[in-house]
Amino acid sequence: MAGAKNSVLKLMAAALLAEGTTVITNCPAILDVPLMADVLIGLGCSVELTGDRATITTPAELSHEADFPAVGRLRASVCVLGPLMGRCHRARVALPGGDAIGSRPLDMHQSGLRALGATMSIEHGMVVGQADQLRGAQIGLDFPSVGATENILMAAVLAQGTTVIDNAAREPEIIDLAAMLGQMGAKIVGAGSATITIEGVEALHPTEHRTVGDRVVGGTWAFAAGVTRGSVVVHGIDARHLAAPLERLLQAGAAVDVLDDGFAIEMPRRPRAVDFITMPYPGFPTDLQPMALALAAVADGHSLITENVFEARFRFVDELIRMGADARTDGHHASLRGRANLSSAPVWSTDIRAGAGLVLAGLVAEGITEVHEVGHIDRGYPRFVEDLQSLGAQIERVAG
Ligand code: EPU
Repeated sequence: MAGAKNSVLKLMAAALLAEGTTVITNCPAILDVPLMADVLIGLGCSVELTGDRATITTPAELSHEADFPAVGRLRASVCVLGPLMGRCHRARVALPGGDAIGSRPLDMHQSGLRALGATMSIEHGMVVGQADQLRGAQIGLDFPSVGATENILMAAVLAQGTTVIDNAAREPEIIDLAAMLGQMGAKIVGAGSATITIEGVEALHPTEHRTVGDRVVGGTWAFAAGVTRGSVVVHGIDARHLAAPLERLLQAGAAVDVLDDGFAIEMPRRPRAVDFITMPYPGFPTDLQPMALALAAVADGHSLITENVFEARFRFVDELIRMGADARTDGHHASLRGRANLSSAPVWSTDIRAGAGLVLAGLVAEGITEVHEVGHIDRGYPRFVEDLQSLGAQIERVAG
């Protein structure tokens, strides 16, 4: 299992915080990594991507402006905001356009940076920040936003004094980022808990860091086993990062063995219907919600799926209905009565995870399913088709 998309992009942004050459290993071979490299190059870094290594050389003087051509193609590029504020005390970062999974406001990112002493505004499609000096502050987030926690963390490491982030996101990717920042000389306590304390330092130094394994890709393979009544062994992740999804799959009838560096899963029978509620970590991840819907579509019984993080992710349900799923949505809830069989149909992926979920449903639908717009899948899954083929799936990449 390669490194996590949702970690490596932030680790690359963190390289902005130290002058010199930072190396990040276990980078996944996904489209978002070269896109992030382009964003960093636009800010004045040089970036070399070879195999699973990203070598990023950050100059003494950075540009503080990330404009639309680079940023527009990669929503996650907003994570350069915190490092630019920390290092340059100013930033102009273009706001990416609309998102298929729901609205992605930056109010908590901005109010956190304001608490550190910056003036923040949105001007002509850019988020603009400016500060004479960042000073540590007590910051309470209304919701444990992953991106806001990361941006505040990356600004606070170079602020004067102590910052406390309450109701911080607790995702493994936050722990990974804090570990890398710690190796760079930052003083951070509590990453992985709801309260993170950061004591600002004068400067950070470059480091070499290995990206944490991708729990969402690992979880996708776990659901692939669940949906197809198959078996999969996943190496290269910490199974504890998937405690909630694996627990649900156990309840659905799977046998799960936790390994030192992953897990083995087998679904010997038609899955039993179970309910899923997406929540911030350690709850069930929204990024596996489409895979949970695919499971519910073929499970024995009735499942209720509640989405609490990204409201528009249920657009995916319409595609499942095209494949014969018996499903209804009502606001944050999707209700599914599992069918023994789905039937193939042409379907369209709207984002990375919906694309993966549709492929899982296609694996068990009768006939040949055509999944369109699969470029989304390349943004988050290295070797998606090849890995499925090696697991015995009949899948072929035709175009796109
Ligand atoms: N939110 C606000 N205001 C803010 C920030 C967030 O209202 O200032 C809301 C969002 O609209 C959303 C919720 O808070 O409803 C959660 O957003 P969060 O900030 O936690 O998410 P993110 O940082 O934008 C990351 C991942 C997502 C993943 C979420 C939740 C990256 C690049 N993206 O997004 O990954 O779903 O955390 O775990 O790390 C994906 O990989 O497919 C993906 C979408």
